[in-house]
Amino acid sequence: MTIAQTPSLLGLLATRRSVNPKFLAGPGPSRAEIETLLTIASRVPDHGKLAPWRFLVIDGAARGRLGATALAIHLMDAPDLDEAGRQADLNRFALAPLVIGVVSRAREHAKIPIWEQQLSAGAVCMALSVAAKALGFSSAWLTEWPAYSAPFRAALGLVDDERIAGFVHIGRAAIAPDDRPRPALADIVTWMD
Ligand SMILES: Cc1cc2nc3c(=O)[nH]c(=O)nc-3n(C[C@H](O)[C@H](O)[C@H](O)COP(=O)(O)O)c2cc1C
Repeated sequence: MTIAQTPSLLGLLATRRSVNPKFLAGPGPSRAEIETLLTIASRVPDHGKLAPWRFLVIDGAARGRLGATALAIHLMDAPDLDEAGRQADLNRFALAPLVIGVVSRAREHAKIPIWEQQLSAGAVCMALSVAAKALGFSSAWLTEWPAYSAPFRAALGLVDDERIAGFVHIGRAAIAPDDRPRPALADIVTWMD
């Protein structure tokens, strides 16, 4: 599918749903499609033009390697981890054909609050999810414990003030997920006129 053939943006936004990585099948995005996704994802509002985020493209054999790293780290805290837990770690980056880690690198700045830099990283994750959908893929934006594990972040090459905004798992939906309840506008909107 070319960009010109993609469905309307409003239709995509109105129907987009996460798909559990275990239902995200291959083939994953090509190298050119990944570059398209990253280009679109990095085109988000960014107060001060700081680009306070960066990407980890977790593809191919790196997915299994990272799973093995996650398991090794988990076993340090939980040596009695059962077989199901071990398999979950080994497979956590290998279910979908591609995982893109969005790294927030928000730093103290004279004018731009850290909060705004972190919001921009969230916008990156969302733009990435919508762009994946527009290219014919589905996705899941997850963090799970590895995002909050200092040794795992170090294994990914993150420095101290970098954080994982999300691991966005991307593939082709093998199921059509039911929608989930959405908040009623009456509960979340204050009309000020
Ligand atoms: C920052 C962030 C982190 C998340 N981490 C997880 C997670 O670790 N595990 C999980 O089951 N869902 C997690 N979720 C929620 C999933 O993305 C969930 O599937 C999503 O809320 C479904 O929404 P959707 O139907 O609009 O796509 C996270 C969401 C966000 C925004």
